[in-house]
Amino acid sequence: MFKFFLPTKIIFGCGSINNLHNDVKPLGKKCLIVCGKSSLKENGLLKKITENLSRNDIEYDLYEGISQEPTTELVYKGLEILNKDKFDFVVGVGGGSVIDVAKATAGLYGEFSYNKNFKVEDYLEIDGTKRVEIPGIPFVSVPTVAGTGAEVTMNAVILNPLSGKKRSIRSEYLFAKLAIIDPLTTITLPKTISSTAAVDALCHLVEGFISKKSSPLCDHFAIEGIKYIIENLPLVIKNPSDISAREKISIASLYGGIMIVNSGLTLAHGIAAVVGAKYKIPHGVACSVVLPEVLEWSLEFIPQQKILTIKNLFSENPKMFLYNFYTKIGLNTKLNISNDFNFEKLAEEILNTSSTKGSPKEPTLQEIITILKQIINT
Ligand SMILES: [Fe+2]
Repeated sequence: MFKFFLPTKIIFGCGSINNLHNDVKPLGKKCLIVCGKSSLKENGLLKKITENLSRNDIEYDLYEGISQEPTTELVYKGLEILNKDKFDFVVGVGGGSVIDVAKATAGLYGEFSYNKNFKVEDYLEIDGTKRVEIPGIPFVSVPTVAGTGAEVTMNAVILNPLSGKKRSIRSEYLFAKLAIIDPLTTITLPKTISSTAAVDALCHLVEGFISKKSSPLCDHFAIEGIKYIIENLPLVIKNPSDISAREKISIASLYGGIMIVNSGLTLAHGIAAVVGAKYKIPHGVACSVVLPEVLEWSLEFIPQQKILTIKNLFSENPKMFLYNFYTKIGLNTKLNISNDFNFEKLAEEILNTSSTKGSPKEPTLQEIITILKQIINT
């Protein structure tokens, strides 16, 4: 038995952002646009969106300056802005952090409005115990980075400054009503972001494929998405304006998001989330380093047919294949961290993440420690 769920309407294509004002019309007359620091202004995208909204009688306010790390404080700030006026919907335009803050803000707004003792921290997995039970307001995701898949997922990954941990707020109320995915918006991205974000998507696809919750329906997305990234990411790195290659990476990112929702992730994201939050390593960088080791470890525990598929995609030696692939796209294969490590404590934390629980076999603490020692140059 398997379940498949994706309630988000998806509009995909080059130039699709130019029609945003029409696509959001059914959602209401006033929106809050959540965005990052400056790139949207520099490339003219924000101006284009806001001018089109104004011309079509849709009011907007801006919540700008979302930094790389989405924190609970940023969500509180978003909720306070929503509370000041009557907003009909929230639009998040940017990378994964922007999308996550916008998604959490829109999704938690119902709880925030009705609960006197509301705290964002209460809705974080592991740190809190509450579930979102009151719908928020509609959310529109407009990703400008291809990789996180956050445009279609039901969770927002938020850093809890109180515990220093990255946790998910997860609820069907967090799904975007609409995702507008325009590969043209990714064309000005720096190479490092293009490569690490795409490898994050590769990680979602591979993990979704080997996860114990995988399904034949999702496996199709996974296999196609993996092919798209292997074939097209080197082209994007060579020529950032290669729009056909950018398009394939955006599709792969979307497929990766579908994996997160329907197949779940595994140990690679468990390690990346814990190590990334603790040592302030960008998510895509942490994922890329972990993937070859976790994939090699996982091969022992997945069905024979899947091993063959993986070897067809990644050669007889998937780990070496990925190392070579990283060399081609300019990524490292190890993390250089100078801090002292308590490997046991890290491994315990990793074992408790929801991603790790989706692994084809539950890893032992020693197996996690072995992988950590392989990826970290101390
Ligand atoms: Fe990820």
